[in-house]
Amino acid sequence: MRLARRALLGTPLAATALAQEPGLRALAEARGLVIGNMVTRGQLRDHPALQPLLRRDAALITPGLELKWDTLRPDPESFNFAPAEEVAAFTLAGGMDLRGHTLVWHEALPRWFDPAAMPAPQLRATLERHIRTVAGHFQGRIASWDVVNEPIGENGLRDGPHSDPDLIRQAFLWAREADPGARLVINDYDLELGDRRQDGRRTAMLRLLERLLRAGAPVGALGIQAHLAPRSAPFDAARLARFLRDVAGMGLAIEVTELDIVDRLLPADIAARDAEGAAMAADFLRVALDQPAVRMLVLWGLSDVQAWQQDSAFARRRDGLPSRSHPLDREMAKKPLWHAIAGALRA
Ligand code: XIL
Repeated sequence: MRLARRALLGTPLAATALAQEPGLRALAEARGLVIGNMVTRGQLRDHPALQPLLRRDAALITPGLELKWDTLRPDPESFNFAPAEEVAAFTLAGGMDLRGHTLVWHEALPRWFDPAAMPAPQLRATLERHIRTVAGHFQGRIASWDVVNEPIGENGLRDGPHSDPDLIRQAFLWAREADPGARLVINDYDLELGDRRQDGRRTAMLRLLERLLRAGAPVGALGIQAHLAPRSAPFDAARLARFLRDVAGMGLAIEVTELDIVDRLLPADIAARDAEGAAMAADFLRVALDQPAVRMLVLWGLSDVQAWQQDSAFARRRDGLPSRSHPLDREMAKKPLWHAIAGALRA
């Protein structure tokens, strides 16, 4: 048995190294950090090889689609928890925690729910019922909930179900009542890099957080998505560190919630592409993991078979090549990004 295994893996040395190399889960645990990953029910079914690798590299799972309105709410009256429960069963069996994503967002809405077309009292009642029912259903099972996703627009608050700060405050209060133990999170993208545009988004986010905290909203953490896009903007360690310090100074925890590489501007050459993506992740993690308020690091997919970028008009590559955004390739082999994350966790 041992011999056959060695023969399969090549040299005895390779076999030993493979058996001994700890996964991201063990590396994160060793430094008191919760590491997680996104997966969908469809990916668990279509790629069973992902399952043991998720257990190796993640202590927490964010269902990628199953807690969004268009899956949960087929019509105004009903709630369909079955898809989310299937992902939850996988996490429970693997001794993993669950992250909730997301209670209020302007995307992934069912056709019947058009926030702009609803009179304010009806919008409020619809959000209240959704948040109380969904957060209540999972009460005690969700480590942290993205209560509000992507509230920052290009000019302050974005239009959508979350365009009214008082409604955001209410959303947090409803979620707190429904699940008193969950950490409640406000989550957004393009807060990581060092150009003027992201400076503006960081400032807008700090203002929103201050305002919510002053109004008594039970916000527990800022979620930083970290869909890192090399060549879209420079990385600036000092600016990121200052922002994280400002957030931590408000008494908030910080969670990295959706880390991956948007490789749309990178060269086609695979080695060059992988190296540049991994380098930006290493730069980002060096700063993020140095901030004690950062408690959680969630990746938005473990393997390139999970790529969501292909379906995104914004994130996909113009040359049509499949994106290489994740730590493992389509054959589940480790890429430079996996080693960059492992290295950052070890540091
Ligand atoms: C993405 C999913 O991964 C895709 O499968 C879906 O088609 C679109 O949404 N920011 C978020 C996530 O907060 O919910 C998005 O997830 C990726 C960007």
